[in-house]
Amino acid sequence: MIQVSDNLFLLETEHSAYQMKVNERGMLEHLWYGARVDQNMDYLNLHNDLGFSGQIYEDQADRTLSPDTLMLEYPTEGIGDYRITAAKVEGALGLDLRYAGYEISTGEFNLDGLPHVRGELEQLTIHLKDEVLNLQVDLHYLVDEKHDAIIRWATFRNKANRSYRLDRSFGMALDFPVSEDVELISFPGRHNKERIMTRQPLAQNVVCFGSKRGTSSHQHNPSLIVCDSLTTENYGDAYGFLMVYSGSFKIEVEKDQTGQTRVLCGISPDMTRWTLDAHASFETPQTILFYSSQGLGKLSRNSHDLLRERILPKNDYHPILINTWEAVMFDFNREKLLEMADHAAKLDVDLYVMDDGWFGDRNSDLAGLGDWIPNKTKLGGSLNSLIEEINARGMDFGLWIEPEMINENSDLYRAHPEWVLQAPNRKPLISRGQMVLDLCNPEVVDYLEDVFTHLLSSGNIRYVKWDMNRSLGDVYSPSLPVEKQEEVCHRYILGVYDLLGRLTGKFSNILFEGCSGGGGRFDAGMLFYTPQIWCSDDTDVHERSKIQYGTSFFYPAVSMGAHVSEVPNQQTGRWASLEARAAMAMAGTYGYELDPGEMSEEEKAEIRALNKQFRSIQDLIVEGDVYRLSSPKNEQVIFQFMDKAKDRLVLLGIVYETRPSTMRRKIRLQSLPEQAVYETQDGVIYSARALMHGGLLLSQTCGTDAPVHIELKRIR
Ligand code: GLA
Repeated sequence: MIQVSDNLFLLETEHSAYQMKVNERGMLEHLWYGARVDQNMDYLNLHNDLGFSGQIYEDQADRTLSPDTLMLEYPTEGIGDYRITAAKVEGALGLDLRYAGYEISTGEFNLDGLPHVRGELEQLTIHLKDEVLNLQVDLHYLVDEKHDAIIRWATFRNKANRSYRLDRSFGMALDFPVSEDVELISFPGRHNKERIMTRQPLAQNVVCFGSKRGTSSHQHNPSLIVCDSLTTENYGDAYGFLMVYSGSFKIEVEKDQTGQTRVLCGISPDMTRWTLDAHASFETPQTILFYSSQGLGKLSRNSHDLLRERILPKNDYHPILINTWEAVMFDFNREKLLEMADHAAKLDVDLYVMDDGWFGDRNSDLAGLGDWIPNKTKLGGSLNSLIEEINARGMDFGLWIEPEMINENSDLYRAHPEWVLQAPNRKPLISRGQMVLDLCNPEVVDYLEDVFTHLLSSGNIRYVKWDMNRSLGDVYSPSLPVEKQEEVCHRYILGVYDLLGRLTGKFSNILFEGCSGGGGRFDAGMLFYTPQIWCSDDTDVHERSKIQYGTSFFYPAVSMGAHVSEVPNQQTGRWASLEARAAMAMAGTYGYELDPGEMSEEEKAEIRALNKQFRSIQDLIVEGDVYRLSSPKNEQVIFQFMDKAKDRLVLLGIVYETRPSTMRRKIRLQSLPEQAVYETQDGVIYSARALMHGGLLLSQTCGTDAPVHIELKRIR
């Protein structure tokens, strides 16, 4: 709901309220974001006269009113606010934004070339204008009542006859009132160790993180939670910020001299400075804001529901797949592929995915990218004939591609050396033997659309893994003039979105899975096109438990690519039982990444049984609610997946260490209806209250990383 009266703006969701006001000077002040309240929260904003915090010209007489201490809805550079700011125009020109009106509308809002929250919602747009520069900034707010979310972004409109360079152009800012107790939760990591949940207190300081890599990156995720030290899974205030963006981003947080906190989310000003031509406009990516008064768990469930309903493309295809990568890497021929397919068919999987190595001269990572022509020698015939053989074995067929990349040793590079990102007169920066195609160049995007349209039409392809295996390095586009080079990083990701939009639109029967060396581009922007993303190249169950735990704070299990791989694990050398590997992979999309020919008949039978088990609980993973029952800090990661009616649930996870000479561990379940009674798959009956307050005893574990897989159904 959106209400406007007496210069006061009120946005309300089921459990949250957001207030702003236009002050006497036409500045847009932020008053409140948090639990629903029944009054104007302006009374919290009492100001003192602070030394070295000046006034705007008109307010010289009242030294208590300073832009340096006001909670501002969209703080800008050059008006006497010394904190971090959301927007800055060309060096020291200053940007003094004053209120210039508002609009309320309802509908589905498309962003120009950017992924966005789908569906009909109510929108408030507030116009702010700098009369000196003749530059307008529109602040947009979509209200998603059901998911307790407010979606924000900004549009810059240049009304002047000259151009302006935007040195900072964040999509949103949020000021919090004075508090001594602020904590930040973020998800840093690296390749093979993405999104590790990290919680830290905020001192009077600026904390910032982001990516300069052209992708959202393995190192940082475009998301943040602000809470206080008392917030837990089920208690306390939590504010979530989730960017719908996959390129170089930045999140900045400052606790100022007074104890107020400011959060900014946007395109990284370190990488993109956009030149706004005369009479042109520029739209920032969206950030989804969540508020929960019931701790982190509720915030996560709202995010999962919103992403499933409003970000992920519609998809009813949830196959159990087997992928060839860890089994053979680049080393295969038709005989080997079919031998694996024969064994895979006996495992009762739905989809056979041929990973990297099937095209051009691709026998290692040093050649072939760009030449998307099936290698008939390696495939022992046409791609289509191979697909038919796989289909004949009762499995769908899927394919790996890496459209954005090119090897120096490729026919495409020999034909079009000018199609790569590369600084003039310098040698290209190489990573994994490859360079990045210039997706700022529409000619390149058109070419890729043609090539992949042809490829994906050439047979019965049901699934595509869209990979991206390096960071951008020499971010210079030969297709753009010098003065536009600081736009390349953002233009690149717009090109990626354009290509993804065209191909996923044309091939709506294909399930696209995103990937970037595992989870190097795991964000809500990519999820707009690819409903699942390979979570990490690290398939070790112990490491995966931490990765999937961190990922679960914003992203639903149905979006997390997770497979059972061989032991000892290829990334860590660690051993874990098949049940343990399966328990963690089932908390995601579920599949296999191993050579089925190396399995004994017993193991194959075990896998068939696991697949059956997974299919019987898959709806809970795809559509259900998740509760994090324990964390890596407790040396066990256990998720409770439950249907919305709370009739069926499954606990999935692992216990890290076996503790000798002590009692069995117990785990307390969450959010069951008080009067309900449940039965486990072994026929043991418990009351909901016993399960929630006493807990369920876990079996005596043996060794490390012991599996937890317990199913319960409501019997009363
Ligand atoms: C990336 C992916 C892997 C695999 C390889 C192929 O690293 O994350 O799963 O597809 O590329 O080169």
